Amino acid sequence: MPIQFLEEQSLFLLETDNTAYAILLAPHGQLIHTYWGEKLPFPDDYPGQPHNVAHSSFGTWGNDLAAELPVPYNILELEPSIRLSFADGTRDLRLKYVKHSIEGENLTIDLKDEFYGLELQLGYRVFPDCDILTRRVSLINTGQESIRLDEVLSGNVLLPDDKGDYRFSHLSGAHMIEFQLDREPVQPGRKVIEGRHNYTGHNHNPFFALDLVESPATETSGEVWYGALAWSGNWKIVVEQVRSHRKRTRVGGGINDWDFEWELKAGETFETPELVIGYSAAGFGPVSRNLHRYQLEHILPSRFAQDLRPVLYNSWEAVLFDVTEAAQREIATKAAQLGVELFVVDDGWFGERHSDNAGLGDWTVNRQKFPDGLEPLIRHVNDLGMKFGIWVEPEMVNPDSDLYRAHPDWAYHYPNRQPTLARTQLILNLGRPDVQEYLFEALDRLLTDHNIAYIKWDYNRAIAEAGGTGIPTANRREHWVRHYQGLYGLVDRLRAKHPDVLFESCSGGGGRVDMGILAHYDQFWTSDNTDPLDRLPIQQGFGLAYPAKTMFSWVTDMNNNAAPYSLRYRFLSSFMGGLGVGANLHHFSEEQMREAAHWVAEYKRIRPIVQAGELYRLTPLEDHTEKKDSYAVGYVAKDKSQAVIIALDRKSHFWRNPRRLRLEGLEPETVYRLSGDIAEREPARLSGQALRTRGILPRLEGELAAALITLEKEG
Ligand code: GLA
Repeated sequence: MPIQFLEEQSLFLLETDNTAYAILLAPHGQLIHTYWGEKLPFPDDYPGQPHNVAHSSFGTWGNDLAAELPVPYNILELEPSIRLSFADGTRDLRLKYVKHSIEGENLTIDLKDEFYGLELQLGYRVFPDCDILTRRVSLINTGQESIRLDEVLSGNVLLPDDKGDYRFSHLSGAHMIEFQLDREPVQPGRKVIEGRHNYTGHNHNPFFALDLVESPATETSGEVWYGALAWSGNWKIVVEQVRSHRKRTRVGGGINDWDFEWELKAGETFETPELVIGYSAAGFGPVSRNLHRYQLEHILPSRFAQDLRPVLYNSWEAVLFDVTEAAQREIATKAAQLGVELFVVDDGWFGERHSDNAGLGDWTVNRQKFPDGLEPLIRHVNDLGMKFGIWVEPEMVNPDSDLYRAHPDWAYHYPNRQPTLARTQLILNLGRPDVQEYLFEALDRLLTDHNIAYIKWDYNRAIAEAGGTGIPTANRREHWVRHYQGLYGLVDRLRAKHPDVLFESCSGGGGRVDMGILAHYDQFWTSDNTDPLDRLPIQQGFGLAYPAKTMFSWVTDMNNNAAPYSLRYRFLSSFMGGLGVGANLHHFSEEQMREAAHWVAEYKRIRPIVQAGELYRLTPLEDHTEKKDSYAVGYVAKDKSQAVIIALDRKSHFWRNPRRLRLEGLEPETVYRLSGDIAEREPARLSGQALRTRGILPRLEGELAAALITLEKEG
């Protein structure tokens, strides 16, 4: 039973295959967190009480530091889970347990304010074989008057306080350098990572991991408490340490309370997104694999969740806005020769879109570039055996567009301020039903009129003036949330009508990568930086939290003149996720075309293992301040019958200190046949155990070498 209420101890116990989480229902009806860590053999093994903390009139009180849901009255210095104001101005919350229900893997605990008409549901769900738990909060106004919500976190969890100091790992960056691993000790006070620009953000990603300073976790050992927030709008994750007798560390996350406000009207419910949390007793390897499995099996839209992602071609980096039917036909013919399965027309096909100065909002085909519409090109692409895909950026509008001329008030703005342009564009207020309707109609028409199998949905600026008109509620601070309710709803509506269309989320590369958007889109564009060397730390950081199947990686011409990247290197760097080609194929010699076709075929051979298998990092996680000499990853098929190793040299000189690559996850007593780029005198057959302990030396010769090794179970 994954969830139990132990009557005698008055303890809620939530267990996964390897982890457990416990909450005490205290006699006065409050919920106190008592345990988060390794699963123990017997219910009596779990602590029924939190550690005693001395009471003080100068700090947060005793057990309140361990509150499962910290709220204002018992908080002096902790990040509260909820802040609100009742109609009479009371900004206090006294919640008491009412009842709970356990249904399979779901636990709902109902609480109620002592005085006001406010009910709260704490929702937990366990995913036993993923070692994952999700948490969310629903607030229901059962009174007569509105309640103003100032903050509602999805969860705020106490970490064990008897294990020493913690280290915080998170992913930060910028456009072109996303998902860089950052690590720092947790100190007294609060550390906040957040998104404030109406999208997940390039600067921080809503993922966290905490391990112990005294015994830092490796890929295969050490304790790690980790999680992610499933939300694409403004968000925050807070790690805080409070000293009270002993150091107490908490981590919480949810919709950002910065510039947030929500009027919860009588009878209405407000629901938070989910906070996804997990614990690993065996290092960072399981952190990634558990999160990946959870997303692949429980988050991804079901239509394509089990399918392998097609190899795509996209000419954006090769020709930018210069897309015409004739030129796209030619390049499509070449892409087909490589074995590409999906041909994508990127930005520039619509409205008066000749540069990024105009056209966004006008989702009709530009007849100068495509005199007979898109149909002839789509037929050509389909005749070549490829599917057809197209780029859109629906949430945006250029002032130089018919849409803006007709509806200037649809963009976020303050009526008496000059709007600040970025990439010459403004953001549409997706909280408005008329905007949602316009976009649904425009995209529905595009998908109905054409045989389109894939949409690349972009979002290319941070917000400036966050005001609007025509919003149904007077309170404009709600639009941060309403935008995403509108967006998620819009995509779901389109998907329901066009179930066979694959959706990719892009935001100037990896600006909108999170587990919230992944419930609506099938894959991500990872970064606009397609330099195969720069991509390695970006891909490492992405892979820490998100699955390979969703990480698109293109082979392009970026920096190819400056650095002597071989096609082999460029392809193998892109083999670590979903494969795309974005190079200008007109510049490829016949021999390069042949070689590229060979690599596409190689990718298709290993694709089931990369996309559906499990990731094992073979070189240590590195933060962005380090530069190791190599990067290697392994993927093991679910049934352990096959595996792949990809190893890339990171320096422009001979790899003087080759590293043996030790692959976990195979059957110890099974013999695997190795083929591919193995160093001289290395064995061609090894047991799973030997591969784990002794490892294998890849053949990496010459500058910026790259190796691909495949392993197959014998017999
Ligand atoms: C963003 C994307 C690119 C490309 C351009 C088009 O930057 O990340 O891949 O689609 O927009 O304008």
